Amino acid sequence: MRDLTEQNTTEAVLAAWSDNPDPRFKQIVDAMISHLHVFVREVQLTEEEWAAAIEYLHKCADISTPERSEFILTSDVLGVSSLVDTINNRRPEGATENSVLGPFFVAEAGDLGPVPELEVGGDLIGDRNRGGDPTHVHGVVRRRDGTPIEGAELNFWQNGPDGLYDMQEPDRGYNLRCRMFTGADGRFAFTTTKPLPYTIPLDGPAAAMMQYAKRNVWRPAHLHVRIEAPGYERLTTEIFNEGDEYLDNDAVFGVKNSLVLDWRVNESREDAEGLGLAAPFREINYDIVLEPAAEAAEAAE
Ligand SMILES: [Fe+2]
Repeated sequence: MRDLTEQNTTEAVLAAWSDNPDPRFKQIVDAMISHLHVFVREVQLTEEEWAAAIEYLHKCADISTPERSEFILTSDVLGVSSLVDTINNRRPEGATENSVLGPFFVAEAGDLGPVPELEVGGDLIGDRNRGGDPTHVHGVVRRRDGTPIEGAELNFWQNGPDGLYDMQEPDRGYNLRCRMFTGADGRFAFTTTKPLPYTIPLDGPAAAMMQYAKRNVWRPAHLHVRIEAPGYERLTTEIFNEGDEYLDNDAVFGVKNSLVLDWRVNESREDAEGLGLAAPFREINYDIVLEPAAEAAEAAE
């Protein structure tokens, strides 16, 4: 191909990619090329603006680490993560809804080894998180018909009383993050500190772009959880607090009504003593309802 013009460039580029033998990859690449070209034409992108976009990507790469992805954050603040999440997790009424993974999920942070396991009823507050609001998180992993799910692996992660996730702290040790396995009763429970609203990381290009555009950089307080159980769809979600001032302008578009709960204040001294907490404390009581995986559902028919 030679002598490309404004008019025939897209056609020529698509033709150059047309031998792509993978139908799905071809569908994605062709649509990406077409939409990118429409976008460039529509905004009449200048060379300076093109260079700024490349510079943005370089800045994302420079600040990203295995535990902090500015690329995921960019996808989050542009609403792409939320859209992908919604498209891929259509569930019936009564099943727990998905929400965005966010940039701070860690399965295994390099030299730190796997995320520690906490027994059901364990304590995540430890010595490092005094000063926050003590909170008891509990519920059951179950099916829509109420049957408890045994052997579910839950991953919880959240920020601390200083508003930061463990991977944002200078010492980078695991904190306020655990894995937990359900027994026959499907129950999970632990004591922790109340998560706080926080800004997305302000030292990277995503926040700079948002602040330039006068967009809110705060997220409402939330507890992240990812659940995997054999035979069930994996669920990644967040639990929010009713009344939080950022529920309607979440920086990353993760809030769904069914995930907003009343993190109620429990003033019972007896309840607090039973948990090794001081009264009053907060309670987050939430059942996580999983759907059978498509293959498992088909096999049962
Ligand atoms: Fe978060």
